[in-house]
Amino acid sequence: MSRNKVFVTRELPAAALDRLARHCELDVWDGFLPPEYDIMLKKAHSLSGLLCLLTDRVDARLLAAAPDLKVVSNMAVGYDNIDVAAASARGIPVGNTPGVLTETTADFAFALLMAAARRIPEARQYIHAGKWQTWHPTVLSGRDIYGACLGIIGFGRIGQAVARRAAGFGMRILTHSRGNSEQSLAAGAESCDLDELLEQSDFVSLHLPLTDETRQFIGARELSLMKPTAILINTARGGVVDQAALYEALRHKAILAAALDVTDPEPIPLESPLLTLDNCLIVPHIASASVATRLKMAQMAVDNCIAGLRGEKLPTCVNTQVYSSR
Ligand code: NAP
Ligand code: GLV
Repeated sequence: MSRNKVFVTRELPAAALDRLARHCELDVWDGFLPPEYDIMLKKAHSLSGLLCLLTDRVDARLLAAAPDLKVVSNMAVGYDNIDVAAASARGIPVGNTPGVLTETTADFAFALLMAAARRIPEARQYIHAGKWQTWHPTVLSGRDIYGACLGIIGFGRIGQAVARRAAGFGMRILTHSRGNSEQSLAAGAESCDLDELLEQSDFVSLHLPLTDETRQFIGARELSLMKPTAILINTARGGVVDQAALYEALRHKAILAAALDVTDPEPIPLESPLLTLDNCLIVPHIASASVATRLKMAQMAVDNCIAGLRGEKLPTCVNTQVYSSR
């Protein structure tokens, strides 16, 4: 009997891949860059499983080209790269990796907040440019974090983990999400409407998934409501922010600064105007990048993949409705 064939779109830690190899015939993409869409399309017809990353577009066309596909397992908590509706229509479960990256991602959102508030990248640049001549009363003065007001948009796992960190900094915490007032109270935060959050916050941190509803959630109107001293932090998805509007807001000092782990597109083109701004800190989508967390994500993605190949319920499935229709 032929074995299940699984395409893994990038080299993962050996501990995870070795485990998966016991359950299937593995085809692992060994390129540093993602496989091109056409390559995935060519491979699709023979696949029982696909273990992919957030850089891989898994759309209806690709799914239709894979008649024997039993599972799509994404090594990420966000799954906006996958057409989940098309997978569900075919009864294919889609797995993601929630929880294991929550604290690591929240650490990083807070690191970005602090770096932007206290101007750490600029300060490093200042030394390298030979500008450090003396201690000066005003040079490189930033914004206080302790006692400031943090607005958290999207109060799920990561949003709440950011709130726990903010509480340690004596911050006032405002949240805007869907149906989260109980969680807000538990975290010592106040739930409020979006405009109030934007008007009152010194820092606004985004923790929404990218969906049709949240695309460009922060646009010119929302930026115009923020304080001129406010800092925007985005570790969610680039598409949640209207980048052209953000550029204008930063250029005209309508807000003080932004710190972005995510952009649209990724990687950000070197000619992007955002890269010309001193008050915009951009890093290459690394919020979950700790050695331990990336290993846990890989293991979780493998667990989902193995369960799907066996016809068992995925441990973390984003479209559980596929089971009720079986
Ligand atoms: P989560 O627990 O599902 O939290 C998302 C929160 O956003 C939920 O409370 C959700 O409410 C809320 N929400 C969704 N749509 C909304 C809307 N239209 N208006 C207001 N609130 C809305 O997810 P998570 O684990 O915290 O992850 C959040 C996102 O972070 C992921 O989807 C991913 O895109 C991103 N992420 C990025 C990195 C990185 O490396 N930069 C790492 C991890 C995650 P409901 O519960 O009602 O849906
Ligand atoms: C990373 O961005 C994730 O969604 O896990």
